[in-house]
Amino acid sequence: MSAPAERSGRENTETQQREVRIDRPLLDRVDALLRDLPKTRVVRLPYPGIRLYAKMESENRTGSAKDRAAIWILREAVRRGEITRNTTVVESSSGNFALSLASFLNALNVPFVPVLDPNVNAATERTLRRLCARVEKVTEPDGTGGYLLSRLTRVAELRAELPDVYWPDQYTNPDGARGHYELTAGELLADVGRVDYLFVGVGTGATINGLSHRLGVEQPDATVVAVDVEGSAIFGAPPARRLIPGIGSSIRPPLVDAAWISKVVVLSERDEVAGCRALLRDHGIYAGGSTGCVYAAITHHFDGHSGREPVVAFLCADNGEPYADTVYADDWVAEHLTPVATKGACA
Ligand SMILES: Cc1ncc(COP(=O)(O)O)c(C=O)c1O
Repeated sequence: MSAPAERSGRENTETQQREVRIDRPLLDRVDALLRDLPKTRVVRLPYPGIRLYAKMESENRTGSAKDRAAIWILREAVRRGEITRNTTVVESSSGNFALSLASFLNALNVPFVPVLDPNVNAATERTLRRLCARVEKVTEPDGTGGYLLSRLTRVAELRAELPDVYWPDQYTNPDGARGHYELTAGELLADVGRVDYLFVGVGTGATINGLSHRLGVEQPDATVVAVDVEGSAIFGAPPARRLIPGIGSSIRPPLVDAAWISKVVVLSERDEVAGCRALLRDHGIYAGGSTGCVYAAITHHFDGHSGREPVVAFLCADNGEPYADTVYADDWVAEHLTPVATKGACA
């Protein structure tokens, strides 16, 4: 298993042609941001029959694991001359990636236009509107039950409209996966040592791509479990309406094709809610929906487990606060996640 794919030969030639416009002061600043990126803690959680570890990616500066992908993508783009101080960055995001880009690009003084959809958490949208002079929000679903294709259409319009645009394209950009390979996985393995099972929530696939390749290089016997949510098309089901941002997608991202995945678990949004509440009750960790889904997958897999104690790791991908009015609000859950529409029990 190798590191995430490098860019193609054609792109390398384009990169050489762009060398002339590399913005050296900007490169110094983005290198400093990368150097100063905080490490996140790995905490041991008591759990019968397994050695369970959570890597607290919610401790990243903007509160999610997306900082790792965002900083690596930006640094590589500046290094290739694709971003200068005259560039506007445009990206589609359901929230966390936009927050990471907004924070880093503000520090770099490079304008950023996030393209959001109605599923964005209210708190995330408020912060983005504070950080970015222009925020775009699509309102029309794309016919798959989600908004991704509508967001991508708006990104294409903005790329045509604005003079010097860089589009990170988090769904295909191998630099995002490389950030997780170098930073998230590097820190996890340095802290935990051996990992037998790694459970990873999947959206763009950058996280599972980077983590699984690093594990494939260093611990090829490890089992990598991809966790997705019903209504997502990532693992072949038809796309349908989903309400909780984070994991799931209405397309199958190419970064998932290139990931090393041993097993796929697909749970309902009600399971996400139950997992979030169980993680809070059992371990005092107030996490976002995707982490709840991953924790639910771990409990389904290991409840009643006996025998050898495997080392099981997962990421606490973001914090629960932005989900206070949805995942953690009983009336929202009762209104939006009906038991007939979804499988699984809500604690
Ligand atoms: C909270 C959270 N968890 C998990 C993911 C999935 O990560 P990836 O897009 O790298 O597959 C995302 C992606 O947006 C996320 O915001």
